[in-house]
Amino acid sequence: MLLVELHNLEKSYGSVLALRKLTLEIPKGTLFGLLGPNGSGKSTTLRILCTLLEPDSGTVTVAGENVLKNPRNIRSKIGFVAQEVAIDKILTGRELLQLHGDLYHLRRNYRDKRILEMIDRLDMAEWIDRRSGTYSGGMKRRLDLAAGLLHEPELLVLDEPTVGLDIESRSKVWSLLRELHTEGTTILLSSHYLEEVDALSDQMAIIDSGKVIAQGSPSELKKELGNNRVTLKVREFSNQVEGEKVRQLILGIRGVHDVVVNTSQGFSLNFFADDSDSLSKMRSDLNEAGFGIFSLSESRPSLDDVYLKATGKTLMDAELEVSSKRDFKKEAKQSMR
Ligand SMILES: Nc1ncnc2c1ncn2[C@@H]1O[C@H](COP(=O)(O)OP(=O)(O)O)[C@@H](O)[C@H]1O
Ligand SMILES: [Mg+2]
Repeated sequence: MLLVELHNLEKSYGSVLALRKLTLEIPKGTLFGLLGPNGSGKSTTLRILCTLLEPDSGTVTVAGENVLKNPRNIRSKIGFVAQEVAIDKILTGRELLQLHGDLYHLRRNYRDKRILEMIDRLDMAEWIDRRSGTYSGGMKRRLDLAAGLLHEPELLVLDEPTVGLDIESRSKVWSLLRELHTEGTTILLSSHYLEEVDALSDQMAIIDSGKVIAQGSPSELKKELGNNRVTLKVREFSNQVEGEKVRQLILGIRGVHDVVVNTSQGFSLNFFADDSDSLSKMRSDLNEAGFGIFSLSESRPSLDDVYLKATGKTLMDAELEVSSKRDFKKEAKQSMR
């Protein structure tokens, strides 16, 4: 059964097209990871789902209800943990949670019982009665999470829940999400860390420039690329003509696909091979043709490879692109002064 259906969402901010007909379906009970580089539209998508932002067009359904028509009904079903939360610094963590419970009209007994449970589950007892202005990033995140969970939502939505966290807080957050998942809560989390999505989610989608470009379980997505990711260097690669011959030879082997010539560090070929048979065929064919293997490394395909195949660039390059654009804007502004 689908808990969340986002269909053909479009959203622009002025001239910036943030979502381009984005469609996403989330089955009940899944821990769903939304992976994408900075600026790909993750926060926009999650904010629309949680009724904090209206799309220009498209539909949003949660548990069969039209969210855009009945935003109120939906809010009690969703717990949202935003990317950056401005919290009052004077109140203690416990007071903030009490306030949050009151906003959701929780009965006092129930509210206080839930707060105690959260303090216990997120290990917050030591500092929950200190002023929140003194909290570290990891403490704040745990408090945000506790607030998002207080009213026992059916759907928990988290926007980049572990950005900037120390290792201990990150692993706390991870294990809590795993527990909640086991207990049956449906979880949607966004991240630009592929290890995070890979480690946590049972279903995932990759988003790029406001569109979903791949979807499935992490292992399915990687498996589609074959079992082996290979980087090959042959002695004769110093010669372009010979290099091209090797490329042609490899292209002809069954089970080998997505062959890319890489000239960034010497000359090498990257490709995917479905099984070890195609690899041994490659070795014997190269040998027969008189080419000597200089080096050959194999690894399992990663989500970065999935992203690379769909977009033609690595996730890291996409991140660098965004940050260099940002720096460029900053520099341009400074030089105008
Ligand atoms: N309030 C806003 N005003 C103008 N542009 C925005 C605003 N919010 C987001 N954007 C732009 O929309 C695109 C998607 O942003 P966002 O959803 O925040 O992506 P992500 O969360 O994946 O980093 C980016 O190009 C971003 O710069
Ligand atoms: Mg974001």
